[in-house]
Amino acid sequence: MATSSIKEVARRAGVSIGTVSNVLNRPDLVAPATRQRVLDAITTLGYVRNDSARQLRAGQSRTVAVVVLDVANPFFTDVVRGAEAALDNSGAMVIVCNSDENPVRERRHLDQLEEQRVRGILITPVDNGSNERLEQLIRNGIPVVLVDRGSRTRNRCSVAVDDVLGGRLAVTHLIETGHRLIAFVGGPTSIAQVADRHAGAAAVAAERRDVKLSVLEMPALTTAFGRMAGEKIADLPAGRRPTAVFCANDLLALGVLQEMTRRGLAVPGDVAIVGYDDIEYAAAAAVPLSSVAQPRELLGRTAAELLYGEINDGENHRHRQVVFEPELVVRDSSAR
Ligand code: RIB
Repeated sequence: MATSSIKEVARRAGVSIGTVSNVLNRPDLVAPATRQRVLDAITTLGYVRNDSARQLRAGQSRTVAVVVLDVANPFFTDVVRGAEAALDNSGAMVIVCNSDENPVRERRHLDQLEEQRVRGILITPVDNGSNERLEQLIRNGIPVVLVDRGSRTRNRCSVAVDDVLGGRLAVTHLIETGHRLIAFVGGPTSIAQVADRHAGAAAVAAERRDVKLSVLEMPALTTAFGRMAGEKIADLPAGRRPTAVFCANDLLALGVLQEMTRRGLAVPGDVAIVGYDDIEYAAAAAVPLSSVAQPRELLGRTAAELLYGEINDGENHRHRQVVFEPELVVRDSSAR
C-alpha cells in the first residue's frame, strides 16, 4: 500500500496538518485525546514520515557521511566503527561511500552528498585533487574532516598517522633482522599515505650503503595485486630476490604471503614480510603477519568528535590537525 501523506492523516483524524506535525515532533503540545486520534490515523493509514524531505526543507539532514578509499579493506571498517561509536548519541545517521581509490567516483559521491545536504563529511581523499571541491563544500556549509590524512592547511580538521615514521619503523626492523635486499610493495603514490610510507622506508635504506630498496608500485592496494607483486618477487633468481618485503598495507602483504606460500618459499626463512594497518586478519594469517599498526577505531572516533565539535561549536570551533604515531607489531612473518 502506498505510504499516505500527512494531509490524509490530518483529514482522517479531523485535525490540521500542523496538529499532526506537533504529534510527530512536539507531542507534549497536543491534548492526549487528540494525540491518540492522530496516532490511530497514522496506524490505520500506514503513514511513514519522510525524514529526508523534512530535513532537506530544514536545510540540513542529520546524516554524516564517511567517504572511504576501499570499502573492502577492513582498515576502513574499523575507522567507520570508531566514527559510529562517537556519533551514537548525537542522533546522526552514519552512511558510508566507497571511492574505490577512484577520483571520479569520489567526486560523484561528494556532489550527491551536497545535494542531500548531509550534516558533515569524514573523508580519506583519493588524492590531493579533491582539495578545491572540499573547500567548496566547507564554504557551502558542510563541514569536512580528513581521516587518515593530514591537512596541509590549518583551516580544516584532520586526523592522521605519521606514515613516514611507519615506513621507517618497518625497514629499520628488517635491517635489524639482517636483511639488505628489501622490496617496497606500494600502490598509487597519488595516495599520500602510500607516498609517505615509501618515503620513510627509502630514508632509512638511504642511510645504509649496504641496503638496497627496490619498489613495486601496484595499481591498487588489494590482496590480488599483492599476489601479483609476490609473483614478480618469487620469479627473481635467488641471488637477486629481496629477502624481505615491506608492503604499503596488510591486504598487499597478505597477497604476497599467499603467493610465497604457493610457490613453496618459506616466510620468513626465504622472504620476510611486513604489512601496514594491523587489521584483524594480520594476526590470523597462516603465518602471523608483522605489521605497522594504525589506531584504526581511534582515527574514526577522533575524526567524528572533531566533526561533531565543528557542527556544534560554530564560530567558536578551533580546527585541529591530530597526528597519531604508528607502532610496529612483530609476528612470525618477519621474526628473526
Ligand atoms: O587504502 C589504502 C590504505 O590507506 C589503507 O590500507 C590504510 O593503510 C590507509 O592509510
